[in-house]
Amino acid sequence: MGHRVCPWWLGYVLASPLRRLLQDPVAIVKPYVREGMTVLEPGPGMGFFTLELARHVGPSGHVVAVDIQPHMIAGLKRRLSKAGLLHRTDTRMASSDSLGLQDLQGKVDFALAMAVVHEMPSSRRFFAEVAAVMKPGAMLLLAEPAGHVKNDAFEAELQDAAAAGLETIDRPAIGRSQAALLKKIASQT
Ligand SMILES: C[S@@+](CC[C@H](N)C(=O)[O-])C[C@H]1O[C@@H](n2cnc3c(N)ncnc32)[C@H](O)[C@@H]1O
Repeated sequence: MGHRVCPWWLGYVLASPLRRLLQDPVAIVKPYVREGMTVLEPGPGMGFFTLELARHVGPSGHVVAVDIQPHMIAGLKRRLSKAGLLHRTDTRMASSDSLGLQDLQGKVDFALAMAVVHEMPSSRRFFAEVAAVMKPGAMLLLAEPAGHVKNDAFEAELQDAAAAGLETIDRPAIGRSQAALLKKIASQT
């Protein structure tokens, strides 16, 4: 498992509208997000997906977006603010060993982990932390860049997810990605 964090300036590239040609953020999040939900997005970068998540949760929902780089959080807040969505989003700084989600235990309806798990120091710890805040039956959409994360590495991530009580229920197609839809099995907390 590699854990080199992508440089902050890449946040601008990743948030570019041109990326929609490969990955349409509306089509990717729409099947899973409803009004009023609490959504978690670890590693949002500058918010290519966060803005859509915030739109889809509506005025009664909220998004918790946690990144380890202050530049990413600053860029994310600027974009959310410009779109009038900052008030629906709780932006947080992660530390190197934790996403800092203790207040969210069992409260998250949906989580999105896009191109982030391979940058984590431990995918096992990552999935355990995320599973702990998900409601039983909640979904996590996991996607990794196919160029960086090969089949074996992705399967190893899915095994770490399974060890945390996150069962693979689908393998959705997402451009240039390895992707899986994971469900928190009801007996785990
Ligand atoms: C390749 S970028 C993907 C950004 C966004 N998910 C997207 O698809 O546009 C990975 C992001 O994960 C963040 N990240 C890396 N390690 C992290 C950690 N330990 N905790 C929280 N965020 C982290 C990086 O700062 C970066 O913003």
